Amino acid sequence: MPVSAKLQLSQFALDVAEGLSASPKKLSPRYFYDDLGAALFEAITLLPEYGLTRADERLISSRASQIGREVGAVDSVLELGSGSGKKTKRILEVLAQRYSPIVYRPIDVSSAALAACEQSMSGIAEVKPVCGDWIEGLASAVRFRRGDLPFLVLFLGSSIGNLDREAITGFLRQLRSSLHAGDLFLLGADLVKDVETMLAAYDDPTGVTAAFNLNILGRMNRELGANFDLSSFAHEARWNSNERRVEMHLRSGRDQSVSIGAIEATFLFRAGETIWTESSHKFSEPELNSFAWSGGFLPVHTWVDPQWPFAEALWRAA
Ligand code: AVI
Repeated sequence: MPVSAKLQLSQFALDVAEGLSASPKKLSPRYFYDDLGAALFEAITLLPEYGLTRADERLISSRASQIGREVGAVDSVLELGSGSGKKTKRILEVLAQRYSPIVYRPIDVSSAALAACEQSMSGIAEVKPVCGDWIEGLASAVRFRRGDLPFLVLFLGSSIGNLDREAITGFLRQLRSSLHAGDLFLLGADLVKDVETMLAAYDDPTGVTAAFNLNILGRMNRELGANFDLSSFAHEARWNSNERRVEMHLRSGRDQSVSIGAIEATFLFRAGETIWTESSHKFSEPELNSFAWSGGFLPVHTWVDPQWPFAEALWRAA
């Protein structure tokens, strides 16, 4: 009998049961983001080694007027995984200068992030938060289309890089199926750069990324009654050159067994065995264009940050 048939389990518990039974053991990066994980991620964005967020912000603030001109008048702005919406403010300001009032629909799983977002955008846009995951949230947000003007959908911060390459095309096609021809999509994506720089971004000497990674074990202790000894696992970042991605793993320092109360299961870890917790894919500009075409979009313009290779790609639904 599967564990789920015996116990009423959360999706988190089910995914943990499946991931830790797999070989190699793995966990979904979506479980990094409890309140502590979200705060640790905010700290990561401030690390000198983690240039992604600053590049994304720099590009958006320096190119906002150009982006605004390319986009023109819109029905509303939808944002997948908005978080607090910090980067988006500049785009909304530019659009609101010409076509006011702007309706902004941030979509996020965190109601705390949506509340912060609503507060910081008040006075710039009419904020209509949608609590849910990306595709479900989008499907509910697009029901509010008011007329013939296009939607602008934002997906910033290179969150697309946390999907496997095969999953990206499927995700883009699903996104496209919720949109009309002429709708616009602005995608932030981190580009391949030298290996040392990419690895340092995921293995900072301050240990913030290590804490972010280890917090997934702490979260299982807190929420699923697990007994992980966090001090016996070590954070590891690896560059996988075949897949062009930085992978994060947690390496067991010794042979040990860990029990997880919520699923009534025990897992054995050999010394040196790892749990694979995240992949952050890195892209090239031509590859982003190919994703646009295979997802049913036409590339309009790509802006690249000169300090930290990162792209803001604007596409139009074909
Ligand atoms: C949210 N995501 C784009 C981040 C990334 O770079 O893959 C998450 C992260 N993981 C470690 N550091 C930051």
